[in-house]
Amino acid sequence: MSRTKGAFIVLEGIDGAGTTTHSARLVQALEAAGHAAYLTREPSNGPIGTLIRQVLSRRLVVPTAEGPRPPGFATMALLFAADRMDHLEAEILPRLQRGEVVVSDRYDYSSVVYQSATSDDPEAVAAWTRELNRYARRPDLVLVLDVDVDEATRRRSSRRGEEEIFDADELQRRLASGYRALSRFFPEDRVVFVDASQPIEAVAEEVRRQVLALLDGTPKD
Ligand SMILES: Nc1ncnc2c1ncn2[C@@H]1O[C@H](COP(=O)(O)OP(=O)(O)OP(=O)(O)O)[C@@H](O)[C@H]1O
Ligand SMILES: [Mg+2]
Repeated sequence: MSRTKGAFIVLEGIDGAGTTTHSARLVQALEAAGHAAYLTREPSNGPIGTLIRQVLSRRLVVPTAEGPRPPGFATMALLFAADRMDHLEAEILPRLQRGEVVVSDRYDYSSVVYQSATSDDPEAVAAWTRELNRYARRPDLVLVLDVDVDEATRRRSSRRGEEEIFDADELQRRLASGYRALSRFFPEDRVVFVDASQPIEAVAEEVRRQVLALLDGTPKD
């Protein structure tokens, strides 16, 4: 199938929902179906994304009288928004223009949900973060991997890697409710929830089915 416009697909969810696993699986499935597909992620691999990863791993901190701490939600919202515009210009838009399918592991939905959940005024911060990303190209489809917080915690702990700054359980609950309310801040976007408590194969198949339906222009359910 030849496409001229490309398509931009985003996977979202709380930590451990499986966005990294299923973004990679989706790109493999798209390539197997004959599409030119490109896998990317946020924070991006660009210069600002690399800086953000240093914050997430606690390598980059703010020195204070009480000792070092991670930068606050507003600094993070601005860094993520800057990374996003750079990511779009450098990686995403050129590929969409070539007609490729771009799959991003997280996008500005994560910014709205995470920065508001780590602030003391979630409503106002969600609206402000949404506005900061006003010029970020909208995806053609967003799949939110919907999984129970306890199940996501189990999955994260069985995976190797260092604990990151957003890992606390209480925060994960706030993130989960942020994802459930997502459409309020993105009323125009095509947001589909996928039951990600199912086994990996079943989730991968549902993600694949949703995206191929979009690309083929047929109804999704
Ligand atoms: N549907 C599933 N069923 C069981 N395990 C899963 C499923 N999806 C992903 N996993 C496993 O859960 C762990 C976390 O998955 P993954 O790293 O993709 O999550 P993530 O959402 O990208 O997390 P983070 O946001 O912390 O990067 C991995 O070990 C992965 O193999
Ligand atoms: Mg991940």
